[in-house]
Amino acid sequence: MYQALGGFPVIEALVDDFYQIMSTDPAARDCFATHSGRDLRESGEKLKAFLSGWTGGPQLYLERYGHPRLRMRHMPFSIGSKEGEQWLYCMRLALGRSPIEPGLQQELLASFAQVAAMLSGVRD
Ligand code: HEM
Repeated sequence: MYQALGGFPVIEALVDDFYQIMSTDPAARDCFATHSGRDLRESGEKLKAFLSGWTGGPQLYLERYGHPRLRMRHMPFSIGSKEGEQWLYCMRLALGRSPIEPGLQQELLASFAQVAAMLSGVRD
């Protein structure tokens, strides 16, 4: 998957677009609000590192921050289905701007949706 989607440069651009959309699109305001007080550049670095390993590339997140434990790390934030849908909305738009092949975009979105459902289930 990592190679097929274009490796780290593509992940970097994807995550930069994702956070750019989240921080500017009013349709994502609740998801953006969960990040208030956070340094989005740092959030982006973490997501890049995570996606590298998650797509089968270098395990950068594990090396830098330890086990991802996504459910535990999202506990401090108020995440319901609205925030989950907005997260996916931003990712869908960011994927659309990427050079990733459409079939692969669908595959990624389906996997993201599972993770988002798991994380938003924490509060709903
Ligand atoms: C369901 C909606 C989601 C919301 C509202 C949300 C929100 C957040 C927030 C507020 C942070 C903290 C950022 C920071 O500390 O700089 C975070 C971190 C993170 N999120 Fe999410 N997230 C969501 C879904 C996801 C999904 C689907 C993934 C992965 C596919 C993901 C991966 C991560 C990672 C890897 C981090 C860094 C964890 C850390 O080291 O603290 N998130 N998220």
